[in-house]
Amino acid sequence: MKRIGILVSGRGSNFIAIADNIAAGRLHAEISIVISNREGAAAVDAAKERGIRCAVIPSKGKTRESHDQEVILALREAGVELVCLAGYMRLLSPAFINAFPHRILNIHPSLLPAFPGLDAQQQALDYGAKVTGCTVHFVDDQLDHGPIIVQRVVHVMETDDISTLSARILEQEHIAYSEAIAKVLSGDCKIEGRCVRTKQ
Ligand code: GRF
Repeated sequence: MKRIGILVSGRGSNFIAIADNIAAGRLHAEISIVISNREGAAAVDAAKERGIRCAVIPSKGKTRESHDQEVILALREAGVELVCLAGYMRLLSPAFINAFPHRILNIHPSLLPAFPGLDAQQQALDYGAKVTGCTVHFVDDQLDHGPIIVQRVVHVMETDDISTLSARILEQEHIAYSEAIAKVLSGDCKIEGRCVRTKQ
């Protein structure tokens, strides 16, 4: 079974969706560790409840490089082959990205390249977008930027506010992340420039 490591900072609903898909046999992988950079993150309790190994590695007061080194070590000790950022509110240092080349995924609540950065759902509402959604992509050295693996579309309703729109996007995130993990772990995809293609 391929081992994945999940990095979180908060609520952890994407982590829970991945764990549930694994438990239900819909995704063939094993979560070998969940790492939070914040004490008290709800995701930590969710990992403990499920008996999934969990580590809190606080980032506060450390340089990005030294914190990342601790995280890399924990991921390596857990035998992680694929790193999934799931609401991990940290930028990764180049050393981290290089430690897992094309082996780090992130999920973002918009159809990238539209609305990168914080508050992507509010950005879509403010812009008057008629569609938005979510993107799972490989992580590179720029924010919300690497090659796209899976996107799912959500229509913006005239009646939407931030909470209704975010909730519908989140439903799609919970599907998209496991789809993307399965695709990457299958070994069937190759990266050509920005494009993730299925191997022939
Ligand atoms: C999600 O909207 C994800 O796209 C973004 O942060 C949020 C994390 O939510 N990167 P959760 O912690 O997985 O519930």
